Amino acid sequence: MAQKRILLGVTGGIAAYKSAELVRLLKKAGHRVQVVLTGGAEAFIAPLTFQALSGEAVRTSLLDPEAEAGMGHIELAKWADLVLVAPASANFIARLAHGFADDLLTTVCCATAAPIALAPAMNQAMWSNARTGRNLELLQVDPQVSIWGPAQGDQACGDTGPGRMLEPQVIADLVTATESTGAGALTGQRVVITAGPTREAIDPVRYISNHSSGKMGYALAAAAKAAGAEVVLISGPVALAPPVGVEVRPVITALELFNAADAAVAETCDIFIATAAVADYRPRNETDQKMKKSGETLSLELVRNPDVLAHVAGHPNAPFTVGFAAETNDLEQYATGKLKKKKLNMIVANDVSQPGIGFNSDDNAITVFWADGRQTFDRSSKAELAQQLIQLVAQRYRQQSGR
Ligand code: PMT
Repeated sequence: MAQKRILLGVTGGIAAYKSAELVRLLKKAGHRVQVVLTGGAEAFIAPLTFQALSGEAVRTSLLDPEAEAGMGHIELAKWADLVLVAPASANFIARLAHGFADDLLTTVCCATAAPIALAPAMNQAMWSNARTGRNLELLQVDPQVSIWGPAQGDQACGDTGPGRMLEPQVIADLVTATESTGAGALTGQRVVITAGPTREAIDPVRYISNHSSGKMGYALAAAAKAAGAEVVLISGPVALAPPVGVEVRPVITALELFNAADAAVAETCDIFIATAAVADYRPRNETDQKMKKSGETLSLELVRNPDVLAHVAGHPNAPFTVGFAAETNDLEQYATGKLKKKKLNMIVANDVSQPGIGFNSDDNAITVFWADGRQTFDRSSKAELAQQLIQLVAQRYRQQSGR
């Protein structure tokens, strides 16, 4: 594993305390770490903590006469193989997006040729704010910048939602997986992902659907984008903001999802990931008018929907296909059965019988199966699992395609 010189920027936010653990993990992985703290970060955590953990002097000011006598900010900018900002606050993201150079960290970011990775951390409303979104859009199209996370879940302020910094171990793994050119594990690849439920109309006001929220698929789309891929997300009806830089193609029914996937794969697709909970059946007839109550029982005739994933995997030039299997029992048996039957490269088995994971939750726990291997990821946020899963998919994809 290549040792990297990492300049860790820490900005102001409660997640700054996790950056101390991040330094420890990066050092343990064999990297050299120098830390720059912003004024906001110093309000949360003392420089001495980082000095003790990194074994290097910590820089806090652009106007430090001693360090700047030798143009310290330029030296730091040249020294780094990777500038990692964790946590990256909304304020820092805004200043970076607009090219500010008014403190040491923004100045180093302006001066460096190294890739810059941001691990955002902020309140969920700040993350969802339109101005933050516009700043992130500017950074998403900046080839020097990658955005890792954030995760969803409980926040220090008592809110719940997107904006938690990824866990230090996940960030450390991403640092190790990032090539020194800054290229992500999926740079140059086109990834098509399906997410969310489908709705199968019974009449103009009723439909058959399921509890999928789309969170797993949206987290995977964001992680694939952060890994450098061009991402198309075919999404059933969900209440989620589109991941920054990802092309979302909305659908409602399984047939629409089938057509959208077929078209996206025909355009070009290197990797296809099916997280959508597609209805296996749809009502044979959708009535034009609202159905009225009549007898004590009602029978609906259902017809089978096409299997999108099996169709894609059966293409003559099929992409690398990854399916999901949501099961309440006999997880391994059913998941590996689908792997073989649908001729997939990998399948992600989800135990949806456990409370708090699987459908419509922020967390998940999965076991991934492929022809001659398996890997289990214990319970963690969907954003974190998505980052880990994308790294595994990229690794298996490269092995299989000899890239
Ligand atoms: O959306 P969330 O709330 O975050 O929840 C995530 C999830 C639980 C929905 C997700 O992690 C998951 O497990 N998705 C698969 C759900 C499912 O219905 O699996 P399945 O066993 O029915 O289907 C197996 C695979 O075939 C899936 O990849 C599915 O997308 C695909 N499929 C199924 C039927 C069909 N007609 N077309 C398909 O492509």
